Amino acid sequence: MNSNPIGVFDSGIGGLTAVKRLIQLLPNEDVIYLGDTGRVPYGSRSRETIIKYARQDAAFLLRHGIKAMIIACNTVSSTAFEEISRDAPVPVFDVIEPPSALAAASTKNGKIGVIGTTATVRSGAYERALGRLLPGAEVTSAACPLFVPLAENGRTSPDDLAVMTIARDYLARLLGSGADTVILGCTHYPLLRGAIAEILGGGVTLIDSGAATAEYASARLGELDLRSPSPAPGVRRYFVTDDAEGFEALASRFLGADVRGLTEQITLE
Ligand code: DGL
Repeated sequence: MNSNPIGVFDSGIGGLTAVKRLIQLLPNEDVIYLGDTGRVPYGSRSRETIIKYARQDAAFLLRHGIKAMIIACNTVSSTAFEEISRDAPVPVFDVIEPPSALAAASTKNGKIGVIGTTATVRSGAYERALGRLLPGAEVTSAACPLFVPLAENGRTSPDDLAVMTIARDYLARLLGSGADTVILGCTHYPLLRGAIAEILGGGVTLIDSGAATAEYASARLGELDLRSPSPAPGVRRYFVTDDAEGFEALASRFLGADVRGLTEQITLE
């Protein structure tokens, strides 16, 4: 048993898709969230820059005495997981393996689509994971770099013409591939789920990488005897590197809970 907080980080608001599921599964756990909103997006940056930012994010959470870390960012998980987990004194969870396992179990025709940032697609991390979990799987990947800025700006609705025009263009390859299962390989993308589902159609199963990882981490914390013994509702704290108010408005809408007054703006070095 361990009552220290669980640390979660992302480049922006996307990692809240993991936090939302984590809170549902483990309501009495304390959670510290870091969104590097001053430097989002990470996905179009070089490998060196992503590693440097990820190290700073992880170090910040570790200074808060976390008992486990969720890298709720596919870009960092696919590019810097080794660098972060190697030095960390706590269990570190990535967002690639859990959704890959779900996709491998869910596909009927062996055709799996992956959408993610430019860095995630460039890394080939999903192809490697899926190739291991389901040998012979046909994987089609598509980078969707404008989805993150759209989500960060609250532009996610299927009624939004800009969202649908961009999404149709990005998803055309997947539609043509015949994939019956598509991994939302960026934790921001579930915010655009309505638009993505409308374009891909009801026959395609969408897998949320943040939620899948929260489910996996929750089970592993139990196995490692790291769950909180406290019966009281957990405390959540949010840290961002840009304006806290804008983050709180989006976060409250997304989490379906008022998080005003829980966010602090910090500087990362
Ligand atoms: N949520 C991050 C991911 O899962 C966003 C990446 C970005 O900042 O571009 O990849």
